[in-house]
Amino acid sequence: MSANSPAAVVVLAAGGGTRMKSNRLPKVLHEVCGRSLVGHAVAAAEELTPEQLVVVIGHMREKVAEHLAAHHPGARAVVQAEQNGTGHAVRTALETLAADGIELDGTVIVTTGDAPLLTGGTLRALADAHAGQGNGVTVLTAVVPEPFGYGRILRDEADGAVAAIVEEKDASDAQRAIDEINSGVFAFDAKLLVGALAEVTTDNAQGEEYLTDTLEILRRAGHRVGAVVAADYRDILGINDRVQLAHARRLLNDRLLERAMRAGVTVVDPATTWFDVQVSYEPDAVVLPNTQLQGATHLGEGSEVGPNSTLKDTRIGAGARVSNTTADGAEVGELATAGPYAYLRPGARLARKAKVGTYVEVKNSELGEGAKVPHLSYIGDATIGEGTNVGAASVTVNYDGVNKHRTVIGAHCRTGSDNMFIAPVTIGDGAYTAAGSVITNDVPAGGLGVGRAQQRNIAGWVERKRPGTTSAQAAAAASEPAAEVPAEG
Ligand code: UD1
Ligand code: CA
Repeated sequence: MSANSPAAVVVLAAGGGTRMKSNRLPKVLHEVCGRSLVGHAVAAAEELTPEQLVVVIGHMREKVAEHLAAHHPGARAVVQAEQNGTGHAVRTALETLAADGIELDGTVIVTTGDAPLLTGGTLRALADAHAGQGNGVTVLTAVVPEPFGYGRILRDEADGAVAAIVEEKDASDAQRAIDEINSGVFAFDAKLLVGALAEVTTDNAQGEEYLTDTLEILRRAGHRVGAVVAADYRDILGINDRVQLAHARRLLNDRLLERAMRAGVTVVDPATTWFDVQVSYEPDAVVLPNTQLQGATHLGEGSEVGPNSTLKDTRIGAGARVSNTTADGAEVGELATAGPYAYLRPGARLARKAKVGTYVEVKNSELGEGAKVPHLSYIGDATIGEGTNVGAASVTVNYDGVNKHRTVIGAHCRTGSDNMFIAPVTIGDGAYTAAGSVITNDVPAGGLGVGRAQQRNIAGWVERKRPGTTSAQAAAAASEPAAEVPAEG
C-alpha cells in the first residue's frame, strides 16, 4: 500500500448486459486477451493498491462470485440484489462495508466492470489530479466521435467547470450534441460521496439512482468538481455488445503487440497474431503469421514460433523453433524443435535440442536432451532418454482402459518404426527394437527387442483366389517365364 493509495476502489459489475444476448455468461465474464472484462477492471484497480477492492455483482452473481474467488481473490464481492442504478450500486457497496465496520476515509475510486482498455495508469492519473486539485469529485471524461448512449458532460459557461452529467435518455437535443462524455469512472472524497448518495433520487427517465447526479449535488454544496479528459478516448471504451467486444480485443491486442515489438520481438503479421495479457518474451523472438499466444506463454530469446500455432501456458526456450503446433502446458527447451503439425499436451517437456516432428502428439512425457520423435507418433506418460531416436509411427500404449502406465526408454536407444510399447515397459540404455514390434516385455540395456510374428509367403495365392483381377493379371505377367510349360516333344 503506497502513501496515496485510495481507501477503496468500487468496480460496478452488477448490470444485466442484455445487449450481449448471452444466456450462459454474464457480460463481465466475457474475455478479452485472456482475461475477463471484470478481471481487467480488477487488475487495473489492483495497481492502485487500494485498502478495499470491492466488486458490485448482481446479474448471474453466482458465476461472477465464483470467477472472482478463483481468479481475483483480492477482490471482495458485494451483492446488489436489484439493479436500481449506478448510484444505488455504489451506495450498496458502501453500506455493506459500513455494516462490517469499515468506515472509508480518503479517496474512493468508482470504475466500471466493462471497460477492459482502462489501465491502472489512467486510474492513477485520475486519483492524482483529484488529490492535487483538492476536488470533492473528479470525473474521467473523453471526447468521442460517437457520443450516443453515454452521459454528456455539462460545463459551466463561465468557468468551464463540470456542472452536471445528463444521461442520453434525459438529455435535450442541444445536450445530445455535446461530444464530451462520462467514462463512468470517478474519484470521490469518501465522506462527501456518502452524503451525496443520500440525496440522489430516482426522478429521471429510467427511474434509477444515478451516480452521475452526485456531481451536481456536490457542486451545489460548494465542493470542487473536477474533470480529467482521457488523452485517447479509446482507453475508456465500454463494452455493451459483441461488436464492441471484438473491437476492444483488437485494440488491446494492438497495444500488447506494440509493447512486445518495442521490447525486441519481431511480429511478422500483427493482423493475424494474438497475445494474451500474461504473455512474456525475450528479445529477438520471432512470431510468424496466424499465431495465438495464450495464458502465461513465454518466448525465449531468439526463439521462433508459428506460422499457424496456438500456444497456451507454454514455455519456449531460447533458440527453439515451433511451427504449425498446438501446445498447452508444455515446455520446449533451448534449441528444441516442434512441428510442423505437432500437438504438445500438458506435461510435455522437451529438453535442450529435443525434437518432436510431424504429426506427433506428446502428453505428460519428458524427452531428454537431443531425443527425437520425428514422425507420426503418440508419446504419452513416457520418459525418453537423451540421444534416443524413436522410429516413425510409434505408440506408447499407456492406457489399459482403467489405468495409465509409463513407458521408459533409456538413453541413446534406436527404436524401430511402427513399435507399440505396451506400458508399463522399460527399454534399457542403448537398446534397439525391431521395426514393427509390439514390445510387451522390458528390453535390457544394449539388447535388441524383437516382438513380431514370423512372416510366411503363400505362393500363387492371388491367381488362385482372385482370378481375373488386375492383381492376378499383374502377377501372371510377372511370373510368365517361370510359368512357361516345357516344350512338348
Ligand atoms: C453509465 C453512466 C453514463 C456513462 C456510461 C459509461 C450513469 C447513470 N450513467 O451509463 O453517464 O456515460 O455509464 O459507460 O451512471 N451497474 C451496476 N448496478 C446497476 C446499474 C449498473 O452495477 O444497478 C453497473 C453495470 O454493470 C456497468 C456500469 O454499472 O458496469 C454502468 O452501467 P450501465 O447500465 O452500462 O450504464 P450506462 O447506461 O452505460
Ligand atoms: Ca454501459
